[in-house]
Amino acid sequence: MLRHQILDFLAQHPEKYVSGERISQQLNVTRAAIWKQIQVLKEEGFEIEGQSKNGYCLLKTPFALNEWVLKRALSTSSLGSKITLEDELKSTNVRAKELARQGSVHGQVVLARLQSSGRGRLQRPWDSPRGGLWMSVVLCPNLSLADASKLTLAASVAIVDALEELFSLRIGIKWPNDLVFNGLKIAGILGEVVGEWNTVQTIILGMGINVNFSREQLSPLLNATTLFEILGYEVDLNILAAGILKHLEKQVLSLEKRAFEELRENWSERATGLGEEVRILRGEQVIQGIFKGITIDGALLLETNDGEKSFSAGEVQLRSKAGKYF
Ligand code: BTN
Repeated sequence: MLRHQILDFLAQHPEKYVSGERISQQLNVTRAAIWKQIQVLKEEGFEIEGQSKNGYCLLKTPFALNEWVLKRALSTSSLGSKITLEDELKSTNVRAKELARQGSVHGQVVLARLQSSGRGRLQRPWDSPRGGLWMSVVLCPNLSLADASKLTLAASVAIVDALEELFSLRIGIKWPNDLVFNGLKIAGILGEVVGEWNTVQTIILGMGINVNFSREQLSPLLNATTLFEILGYEVDLNILAAGILKHLEKQVLSLEKRAFEELRENWSERATGLGEEVRILRGEQVIQGIFKGITIDGALLLETNDGEKSFSAGEVQLRSKAGKYF
C-alpha cells in the first residue's frame, strides 16, 4: 500500500525532512500522489509536518488502532502474523470465527476501533465504544480441548503483565478472568471454540479492554472503569495491543510445553479475593465459603461447611461476602 511505503520511507529518516521529490522518485509515483496520501495519513491521525522548502517529516503516530503502527510495534513471531483491522465490526470474535472457518492462520488477529454488538461471557452484551481495545486472536495451539480451556487464564495473566510492564499498573484477576482495579472491571476475556467439540482445533480468544474513554460511556449498571480514568491520560492502543500479544505468545508457548502448574501459580499471584470469604451464585442458589484457589483446570476451589468443592466457570458467578462484585 502506497501510504505504508510513504510511512516506511519517512520512518527511515527520523526527525528529518524528506522532500516530496525524493519520496516520489523512490516510490515511482507522482508528487501529487504523495501529497494526496499524506493528507489521508493526517486524517488517520499521523502528525506529518510539510515544509515547502524541506519536504515532509513524521512527527507522531496515532494512538488509535492503525495497522502500520501496530505492525511496527509487534515483537511476536506468530501472534499478529496476519492482522485484520476494521473501523467498525459487530464483534471481533464473530469476525474471527468467520475467518477461522474460511481457514485462517494460527495467530491471526482481528481488531475493531468500535464494536456495535460486542459480546461478553454468559451471553451478556459488551459495551465497546471507540477508544477501547477490542481484539480477538485465532489460535490453533498444540493442546487438547481440555487444556485449551486454560488459554483464557493465560490471556488474563498476559493482560495483567502487559499493563504492569507498560504503565507500572498492577491490576487483579477476579475469577475466572475478569480484570479489575479497585473492584471495578477494566477488561474481560471471551474464549470460544470453532467447530465441533470433538474435532476442536481452533480457539478464538477475545479480549476487551476499556482504554481511552471515560467511564460515562459505559452502562451505569456496570461496575467498570477505564485505563483513562485510572491513568488520567490516553495511551497508544497499538503499543498496548503489541504488549498484550507479546505476553500472550509467551503464555501460549508455555502452555504448549504443558507448564500448567506454572500458569496456575502465575494466575494465583495476580488473583483477587484468594483466602477470603466469598459467595458463589449458581442460578438461584447461593453457596458460601472460603476461596481457596483454582484447580489445574481453572475451576474455583471453595472450602464450605460441607468440605471442599470445585466449580467450573461456565456454571457459576463469584461475589464477595457482601454479595458485591470485587
Ligand atoms: C466478559 O464478559 O468479561 C468478556 C468480554 C469480552 C469482550 C471482548 S471485546 C473483543 C471480543 N469481541 C467480542 O464481542 N467480545 C470480545
